[in-house]
Amino acid sequence: MNRIFSGMQPTGNLHLGNYLGAVRNWVAMQHDYECFFCMVDMHAITMPQDPAELRRSTREVAAAYIASGIDPDVCSIFHQSALGGEHAELTWILSSLTPLGWLNRMTQFKEKAGKKRENAGLALYSYPVLMAADILLYHATHVPVGEDQKQHLELARDIAGAFNRHYDIEFFPLPEPQILGEATRVMSLRDGSSKMSKSDPSDQSRINLTDDADTIAQKIKRAKTDPELLPDDPAALDGRPEAANLVGIYAALSDQTAAQVLADFAGKGFGQFKPALSDLAVSVLSPISENMRRLLNDPAELDRIIGGSAERARSVAAPILHKTKDIVGFLQV
Ligand code: TYM
Repeated sequence: MNRIFSGMQPTGNLHLGNYLGAVRNWVAMQHDYECFFCMVDMHAITMPQDPAELRRSTREVAAAYIASGIDPDVCSIFHQSALGGEHAELTWILSSLTPLGWLNRMTQFKEKAGKKRENAGLALYSYPVLMAADILLYHATHVPVGEDQKQHLELARDIAGAFNRHYDIEFFPLPEPQILGEATRVMSLRDGSSKMSKSDPSDQSRINLTDDADTIAQKIKRAKTDPELLPDDPAALDGRPEAANLVGIYAALSDQTAAQVLADFAGKGFGQFKPALSDLAVSVLSPISENMRRLLNDPAELDRIIGGSAERARSVAAPILHKTKDIVGFLQV
């Protein structure tokens, strides 16, 4: 059976971009693959985190996965640090085959390090190698993510190829990125040229999975748009990033294509479109936030699920790491 690995950083509010770009696709794929869905707390600490908040957020992300429809009886839902030794060890081995030139091309490092590049941590720089290790440690074949992770996945494929070539063995499968749906890159509600993101200082820029109905409606009402009417053809949304974003969100939330959405709204203005989008977003997201609240009220049960999943993950990862060390030539006595 093909295997999926994907993950999310427990670094604060999960938003509509995380849901539409990733989790919603995971839910749709979970019965066709053996799935590992991780809360990547080791990636989270590549930027400063408050310890208590990191722990809280790790449980919250697990709750979000389950509340969105991931079945914990079928999929493994666990935190990366539970297998921290294994993930870190494979990262080290893969680092030995990763040229600095490959890492220097990573745009996420440049964005996150900003102007103070000399002060950025080593882990932020090697972040994509840990991500490759996450995937390769499970011999994952498919990795469903949003568009912003494409470059990291290409690097993971390059690293897998470099290992196989160096040791002259077909050991790591080259993982296939799965960038699916109508909302692979959800944009900020305040600026159609920047990505919806947890780190945007304006909460108005994103819809959080925990926002209540009034907040969602208010954020969509205030979302930036243009004065034009909606066209009947998605191609006519070129050059209208805010309009294209809202239509894409509507399409993804209603399981339609942008063309189907425009067939219903062509010739209408945002005065009509926005309330329809609010109702749709609330109808999809309120059951999720309600479920999250319920799950978070029982942290012991959540921890039982996470702990059991980590055991399952270890049973897959341990033999792969053992074999990797064998290939590399480490004495295993
Ligand atoms: P993270 O935590 O930034 O995001 C989690 C997932 O949400 C997607 N996403 C979006 N999709 C569409 N529109 C957006 N505005 C948007 N913002 C975020 C991301 O593409 C991602 O799929 N490095 C990863 C976590 C990771 C990982 C892995 C993923 C660590 N190891 C191994 C896959 C496989 C990250 O930072 O995701």
